[in-house]
Amino acid sequence: MGQILLDGIVKSYGKEVVVKNLDLLVEPGEFLTILGPSGCGKTTTLRMIAGLEEPNQGNIKLDDKVVFSRNEGVVIPPEARNLGLIFQSYALWPHMTVEKNITLALKEQKISKDEIASRLANALNMVQLTGYAERYPSELSGGQQQRVAVARLIALRPTILLMDEPLSNLDAKLRTEMRASLKRLHRDLDATTVYVTHDQIEALTLSDRVIIMNEGQIMQEGSPYDIYHHPTNIFVAEFIGDPGINLFEGNIENGKLNCGGISIPLPSNISNNNGRLTVGVRPEKIEVSESKKSGWQEVTTGIIQPTGANTIMEVKSEDTSITVLQNGFINLSENSKLWINFDSETLSFFDPKTQENLRNKMV
Ligand SMILES: Nc1ncnc2c1ncn2[C@@H]1O[C@H](COP(=O)(O)OP(=O)(O)OP(=O)(O)O)[C@@H](O)[C@H]1O
Ligand SMILES: [Mg+2]
Repeated sequence: MGQILLDGIVKSYGKEVVVKNLDLLVEPGEFLTILGPSGCGKTTTLRMIAGLEEPNQGNIKLDDKVVFSRNEGVVIPPEARNLGLIFQSYALWPHMTVEKNITLALKEQKISKDEIASRLANALNMVQLTGYAERYPSELSGGQQQRVAVARLIALRPTILLMDEPLSNLDAKLRTEMRASLKRLHRDLDATTVYVTHDQIEALTLSDRVIIMNEGQIMQEGSPYDIYHHPTNIFVAEFIGDPGINLFEGNIENGKLNCGGISIPLPSNISNNNGRLTVGVRPEKIEVSESKKSGWQEVTTGIIQPTGANTIMEVKSEDTSITVLQNGFINLSENSKLWINFDSETLSFFDPKTQENLRNKMV
């Protein structure tokens, strides 16, 4: 139970096509995240699954039931699709208490009083709002209102959960805690979940599978590991990772890429037709030494940002700036000398013209 199928979905507003021929299969129990920049069509996609928006073309099936078909003229309304929803605006009823907001749908389903009370208590506990049952939404902060919306889902236990940026109003600490709660919730309910966010950490930490969307199209779909380590193109490589991936574009000369004072040794099987190449290297994959090492490149430190567990360092060679991420709290002053090394195993290679990952083509 809980399979979602989108087949050839197109959505336009006026002349603007915001979702372009989208095919997507979400397996029962899967946690799928749609990740992409603002305006790429994430919310629109979710609203079409929910039935709050009608596609211009295509079909949508939930398990064996066609809930939308342009050709067959089928449009099943949202309330008959049996979904749990949390949207960017979390839409609590303002004239109802927290308790009423959470239990309204349960009462409509004729669930027993004892069961409702136990689900309410459990849901409030999971979102850390025990003791708030009698409050009205206007007596809660934005983050607390959002947590009530999550509690409503927890209590409802639907087979499909659709969530649109459910954590966006929370502060950093609560966000991390709620992320763990959502992961636990998904495990406990075993509900198929489609989760929309532009926060890559949420996408990587929560998902079985991630879809990277840009301008209404899927750029890449894969496990969080694959998306991070094997980006299909430069857009995905830059979108995922914080601090962001370093990209060096230059000419291939004698088995090396030369780019503004940086020289990166390349594996022998890397070549590109026009002799130009873009090399991507994640900041945490660059090795650093405070003493000179043969074959390593000398650089000068720029701004150093210790974040507690890690330190983000800007280093420079001639006019090239490189971001390096090191474990631990490093207190180096600006303009110190360092030596860095690139391990060819950890590099990504892109064609600067097509922006595509060259490794994907070699296999
Ligand atoms: N009702 C509407 N009328 C006209 N254009 C719309 C409407 N709703 C959305 N759009 C446009 O469709 C595109 C996709 O919007 P959508 O809300 O799906 O983006 P999103 O990926 O959820 O972005 P965000 O991360 O900012 O929430 C945007 O360009 C937006 O301006
Ligand atoms: Mg949105």
